[in-house]
Amino acid sequence: MTKEQSAKEQSIARLNSAVADELATVHQYMYFHFHLDDAGFGPLATLFKRTAIVEMGHIEKLAERILFLKGDVEMVPAFAVEKIDDPVKILLKAAAMETESAKNYNQWAREFAQNLDAATKQIFEELIRDEEGHFDAFDKQQEHIRQFGPAYLALQSFGQEVPAAPAE
Ligand SMILES: [Fe+2]
Ligand SMILES: [Fe+2]
Repeated sequence: MTKEQSAKEQSIARLNSAVADELATVHQYMYFHFHLDDAGFGPLATLFKRTAIVEMGHIEKLAERILFLKGDVEMVPAFAVEKIDDPVKILLKAAAMETESAKNYNQWAREFAQNLDAATKQIFEELIRDEEGHFDAFDKQQEHIRQFGPAYLALQSFGQEVPAAPAE
């Protein structure tokens, strides 16, 4: 295998690792969404659904790059869904997942630069910006809970039970 070929293979392997991570994340966030929605935490449930959709977009970007490099997409989630349904624990877990993704993607971005694969590096840089944004959103929710206590989450569910104002 030439040096160029092995660099390409390495990019494809990293891209597939990211696909696996993103797939597991989509599953985990949808699980959080179902449970939060069921428990009446509407806004938090919506945050997880929207974030899961962004992660799905990440899979698409990664897959396009894999196919461009003439690899194939391994659609295998990196880990099984953890059955967490407590809102505080959910936010802790999600924030940790985002930190881990951003850390890995940053390390791999450096490898892509060394392998002269700037286009893959650029895709990961876009993903890092998104993951940092997700971390920030989850961190803000945790901060609100720290500030206002569990009442903050109860108020989130209260909003949903208020009937819509009748049309005039
Ligand atoms: Fe992602
Ligand atoms: Fe994310």
